[in-house]
Amino acid sequence: MMETVVSGIRSTGKLHLGNYYGAIKNFLKMQDEYNCYFFIADYHSLTTHPMPADLHGNVKQVLVEYLAAGIDPEKATIYVQSDVPEIPELYLFMNMNAYLGELERSTSFKDKVRSQPDNVNAGLLTYPVLMAADIIIHKATKVPVGKDQEQHLEMARTFGNRFNRMYNTEFFPEPYAFSLGQSLIKVPGLDGKGKMGKSEGENNAVYLSDSPEIIRKKVMRAVSDSGPTEENQAKPEAIQNLFDLLKLVSEESTYTHFDDLYNKCQIRYGDLKKQLAEDMIIATAPVRERINDIAADSAYLSKVAALGAEKARESASKTLREVREIIGFRKF
Ligand code: TYM
Repeated sequence: MMETVVSGIRSTGKLHLGNYYGAIKNFLKMQDEYNCYFFIADYHSLTTHPMPADLHGNVKQVLVEYLAAGIDPEKATIYVQSDVPEIPELYLFMNMNAYLGELERSTSFKDKVRSQPDNVNAGLLTYPVLMAADIIIHKATKVPVGKDQEQHLEMARTFGNRFNRMYNTEFFPEPYAFSLGQSLIKVPGLDGKGKMGKSEGENNAVYLSDSPEIIRKKVMRAVSDSGPTEENQAKPEAIQNLFDLLKLVSEESTYTHFDDLYNKCQIRYGDLKKQLAEDMIIATAPVRERINDIAADSAYLSKVAALGAEKARESASKTLREVREIIGFRKF
C-alpha cells in the first residue's frame, strides 16, 4: 500500500526560505510518489491570538504560496485544518492520554514560556497533541518537516503508541520526521545566530514574496565580521550561516570559490553577500512570479480549498469512526 504523508505550516503570514527548504521542497518531490496531505495549520496559529481581521488573510497567504511553490491539488490533498472538525475531536481524545510533565518538557513549549511570558496558554502546552492529531488522523508514516520539528514527531509517536497500548491495538502507525535529502534541514537566519524564523525580527528572514530589491537589502545587512585572520580557521556562527545559505541556493562551484577565499584569508564578505542575494533571487523567482496571479484568482482558491476539505474529511472521518469504536462509544 502507498505510504501516507502529512505535513503542515502554521498560518502566521508569509513563508520564508526556512519553510521552503525545510518543508515545501520535500512536499514537491513527495507529491508524485506518496499519498500526500498538506494543510494550513490555522488552529495552531491561535496560540498567538491573531486579530480576527488577519486570520483569513494569513490562511490565504499560505494557500497561495503552497500553490505558487508548485504543490499540485490534483496530486496532493491541500486543505485548511479548521475545515476538518475530526482533527479537534481526535485532539480531545489524545489530550486524555497526554501528561502535564511531558508537555512541559517540550523544547518548543519552554521557548514560548520564555518568549511570551504573558501568554502561556493551555493551547501552547498541548500544541504537540494537536500536531499529533493532525498526523495520525490520516495514519501517516512520513512527515516532511525541518529539524526544529523533530521533537514534536517523537511526541506524536509517543501519543499514538500510548493509544495503541491502552486499547491493545495496532491502530496508529509510527510517524517519522522525513527529508528526501540525507538529513532534516535547519536554515539559518541573517542575524548571525540561530534559525530563520518569523518571530526573530523582520531582517532575519527572507520571504518567498520579497522583491529582489528587498532580498538584496536584507542580505547586504546580514551579520558578518571583520574576516578571518588565520588560514583555514574555523568559521564563527554568523559566517557559517552565510555559507550554509550559499550551500542551499548557489552552485557548488560558488560555494567552493568563497570557501577557498575564506581559507586563504582573502574573502570579502560584500562579494559573498552580493552573490548570495543574486542566487536567492534566482532560486525564488519561479515562486515569487506566480504569487500575485494566484492570489488574484479567488474562484480557483475556493475550488482548491473545497476539494481539499472534502478529500481530507473523507480520510479523517474514517479514522475517527474507528477511533470512537475502539474507545467504546456506542449509539443508543
Ligand atoms: P512552522 O509553521 O513553524 O514551520 C513550517 C515548516 O517549516 C519548517 N521550518 C524550517 N525548516 C528549516 N529551517 C528553518 N529555519 C525553518 N523554519 C521553519 C518547519 O520545520 C516546518 O516543517 N508545528 C508545525 C506546523 C504543524 C505541522 C503539523 C507540521 C502543525 N501540525 C503536522 C507537520 C505535521 C510548525 O509550527 O511549523
